[in-house]
Amino acid sequence: MKRFLTGVKPTGFAHLGNYFGAIKPAIELSKQKDSECLYFIADYHALTTVESGAEMEEYFYNIACTWLACGLDPEKVIFYRQSDIKEDFELNWILCNVTPKGLMNRAHAYKAMVEKNSENGVEKDDGVNMGLYNYPILMTADIVLFDTDFVPVGFDQKQHVEIARDIVHNFNLKYGKTLKEPNEYIDKNCATLVGLDGRKMSKSYNNTIRLFGTSGELKKSIMRIVTDSRLPGEPKDKECTVNKLFKLFASAEEAEKFENDLLAGLGWGEAKNRLFEVADRYISPMREKYNHYMAHKDEVDKILADGAVKARSIASKVLSRVRKAIGVK
Ligand code: TRP
Repeated sequence: MKRFLTGVKPTGFAHLGNYFGAIKPAIELSKQKDSECLYFIADYHALTTVESGAEMEEYFYNIACTWLACGLDPEKVIFYRQSDIKEDFELNWILCNVTPKGLMNRAHAYKAMVEKNSENGVEKDDGVNMGLYNYPILMTADIVLFDTDFVPVGFDQKQHVEIARDIVHNFNLKYGKTLKEPNEYIDKNCATLVGLDGRKMSKSYNNTIRLFGTSGELKKSIMRIVTDSRLPGEPKDKECTVNKLFKLFASAEEAEKFENDLLAGLGWGEAKNRLFEVADRYISPMREKYNHYMAHKDEVDKILADGAVKARSIASKVLSRVRKAIGVK
């Protein structure tokens, strides 16, 4: 039995890139035999970017309800909120003491800030708070608190898992083998989506299609997809964004027909209408569940509270082992 653990930051509304790139593959993974999965909402990591309490609460429920609506089964997955796991923050502090400051200087989010500041000719640590600087240590605590084997992440998070291994290595060297070294798990089934402008779909490019907006909002977003200026009757490029997105929602047969129609000159307006139809058909049943959870947040709170109990029963044992190793009873 292998243990998989991953965290999701509530820093925005879930979009199609999140769904096909992370949520769907993670839910499929949780249905496999021989895997035990812990998925959590990393609300304390989101503090580095979220602007207010109201925003935090809004994004938090958006993410929690999204995962449940997309089929996360709380019987199969231990699903919880990071801030409920007090052990995490105790371990975080302990790990600070085996983490060289230089290792944090090399972490990519911090390094990117420093580089940006030097380009702008301002002081190198301008706008950097200790939450951002120590972010990889808390992430290490999140992971190793559960004796995690694998961390499903995208490429952008690979360095963080490497840092976690370094920190564990330092701890074990000093105190004897206590913590498990985690490995990143990069799923081949994860799709990287193109966004409205043809670049990778990402909140930072402002080119996303929201997963659970209304049907009308979905249509509006699809109509905003940038296309070339080829007229109806002219053959379209099969590598276009509209075709790439269509494939994700349609059956193989439908996708083949659509592609042939594009090559035969289907107009962009009609093509987008057809994309909207398959996307909405795919999303509608999940959207209904999402709306249900959003209207019954007490059910969501209960699921997360049960998840926290299960998670803490694992975490407390690992933390006891750590406290014993460092000589704290
Ligand atoms: N840093 C991750 C991200 O930005 C979120 C995260 C927090 C995480 N703690 C984690 C991911 C632990 C995996 C394991 O996406």
